[in-house]
Amino acid sequence: MNRESARTRIESLRTTLIRHNRRYYQWDDPEIADADYDLLLRELTELETEFPDLIAPDSPTQRVGAPPLEKFGTVTHRTPMLSLANAFSDEEIREFDRRCRRFLESDDPIRYVVEPKLDGLAVNLLYESGRLTVGSTRGDGAVGEDITLNLRTIPAIPLFIPRPEDRAGTPGDGMAAVPERIEVRGEVCMEREAFRNLNRRRTEQGEPPFANPRNAAAGSLRQLDSRITARRPLTLFCYAIGTAEGVSFRTHGEVLRALATWGFHVNPLIRPAVEIEECIEYYHHIGQIREELPYEIDGIVIKVNDLALQEHLGAVSRSPRWAVACKFAAIREQTVIEGIIVQVGRTGVLTPVAVMKPVRVGGVMVSRATLHNDDEIRKKDIRIGDTVMIRRAGDVIPEVVEVVRTARTGAEKPFIMPETCPECGSRIVRMEGEVARRCIGIACPAQIREHIAHFASRGALDIEGLGDKMVTQLVTAGLIHDPADLFFLTMEQLLGLERMAEKSASNLLAAIARAKNPPLDRLIFALGIRHVGEHTAKRLAQAHGALDALMTATAEELQTVRDIGPEVAAAVAGFFREPANLQVIEKLRGAGVTPRQTARSQAAPFTGKTFVFTGTLARMDRSEAQALVESLGGAVGSSVTKTTDYVVAGEAAGSKIEKARQAGIAILDEAAFFALTEIRTG
Ligand code: IVH
Repeated sequence: MNRESARTRIESLRTTLIRHNRRYYQWDDPEIADADYDLLLRELTELETEFPDLIAPDSPTQRVGAPPLEKFGTVTHRTPMLSLANAFSDEEIREFDRRCRRFLESDDPIRYVVEPKLDGLAVNLLYESGRLTVGSTRGDGAVGEDITLNLRTIPAIPLFIPRPEDRAGTPGDGMAAVPERIEVRGEVCMEREAFRNLNRRRTEQGEPPFANPRNAAAGSLRQLDSRITARRPLTLFCYAIGTAEGVSFRTHGEVLRALATWGFHVNPLIRPAVEIEECIEYYHHIGQIREELPYEIDGIVIKVNDLALQEHLGAVSRSPRWAVACKFAAIREQTVIEGIIVQVGRTGVLTPVAVMKPVRVGGVMVSRATLHNDDEIRKKDIRIGDTVMIRRAGDVIPEVVEVVRTARTGAEKPFIMPETCPECGSRIVRMEGEVARRCIGIACPAQIREHIAHFASRGALDIEGLGDKMVTQLVTAGLIHDPADLFFLTMEQLLGLERMAEKSASNLLAAIARAKNPPLDRLIFALGIRHVGEHTAKRLAQAHGALDALMTATAEELQTVRDIGPEVAAAVAGFFREPANLQVIEKLRGAGVTPRQTARSQAAPFTGKTFVFTGTLARMDRSEAQALVESLGGAVGSSVTKTTDYVVAGEAAGSKIEKARQAGIAILDEAAFFALTEIRTG
């Protein structure tokens, strides 16, 4: 394609992608499938790789992050970012309203806007002539940190405010001109589901999970390497503006409407309220639906709607008089640890668990909390008999936040990790570089139980009626020793179990039989290979298409699969070299378990990958090498950019090497490059 047609195509792709972005993030109403979106984005990426000088900073491709910073710079907010005074009860909310009216010397009811109070991180986005120029944290309210590169990677943050003529056909058609300069404020959050998936992936990869979505969002935003932020599922809800030049508004409601028109994500639960009692109703209503929301909130915010009244009310000690945060009761409670038990997991890992006096936390009765490992117990100095604060973050297992030291009587007992497995008496070992201790007993009933329960669980073979209790009963009765045994269970055996009626026995057998043709990725996940969670299992299934192909892959080959690093690759290859595991797989096959083949997602193994060559290759010339990459579905770029995946360095390689090194892009020598093409083709 020549430059001119590339330019036209790039522009049209950008417009289309930006429109789809807005439909997706703002209206929640996507027009095309994710896969089709990805295709368009890939086409744009490839064109930009070919013509790097046509890359614009606000292109939808520029959300992948940039090379790491040494440290963050600082930003002085044009208008300070205030914080909010708190109210904790209906009466305190009424008091806020009375204060406002006293100050305004008015008896008329005040019109308010009520909003969920999101539990994330406040950020300030400065747009100049419609372009996002600086993004920062709140900091101390006057000066924050410059996290522009990180914020640019968040898909819900518009990189520019579209001009009215570019908004034709959207719900904001014709409204709100682009301001000269505007500070847009909002909260960066991570939705609960995204948080759960991120933690699952981290655990799979041996990284510590985040305690709650807020910490995950904060940790992701404070990365010096924005490429890490780019991989974290963050979103933004906007709720205010700071300095605004070239636009004026009369009410807060107008501000929110303009923000929505410009492509910002505004919370759909925001409502006008004509007087304070309506705000109180909203406070109760949101309190009730709080747990069902896809993101975490810690209260509501009530704001005076009229901006002239806001101005008049002003601020005291860095909080505006015109707004108040009404907090919900904290999802933190106090209770007593009555004992500490040790649970043995599927991989033999021992987890100490606190058994506590039952307590209601955020509407749910809780009597157990994970203590993670003995290092954690030591760090927090948790003892049996201690009074502790516990917390439940979203749907995460409750955990002990801290010990209430002042409640200590001296009768509390320190906890000592057992030296042998509490289930099977085998030795406990601590692997090098791991905090966890493991039971090494191969016949440990706890491990067998957990292993089979995992095999039958939701994300795995999803066998109805085969929960933890049933599995324990079957293992204890000696009817099953490994997952394959499930498929050989008989009616007679089941009826021999306590409290097992004919109806439930036949239901269970039917459910087991139905699980014989699982999708390949679920079967891979079900096998319980270390480090292989649902996400990794999907990648493996996509890359290999069939179980046999996966079983024979070498660790080296496995590493070429997207998202799979050396540790996971070694775990997978190791799993399939283990005679005991192969036996179980044979037995599964013998029972008629045959996974559904997964269509290989990538017909060509280099699809989506961009190579840049530098120096001369001994084995073939540049154009042949380029043809080879393209024949495998990859693209070749002429210079190193953010979208480059590999730089191939031949003899007398040039400055591109240095650039790649700085950007953290993989550099292959000739041998490594050809090895990669052979693995990919072979
Ligand atoms: S308005 C002057 N609205 O709460 C008013 N803040 O304690 C400035 N927050 O730093 C904030 N949801 O991080 C506002 N709907 C909302 C909010 C909200 C969450 C956070 C924000 C702010 C803190 C104030």
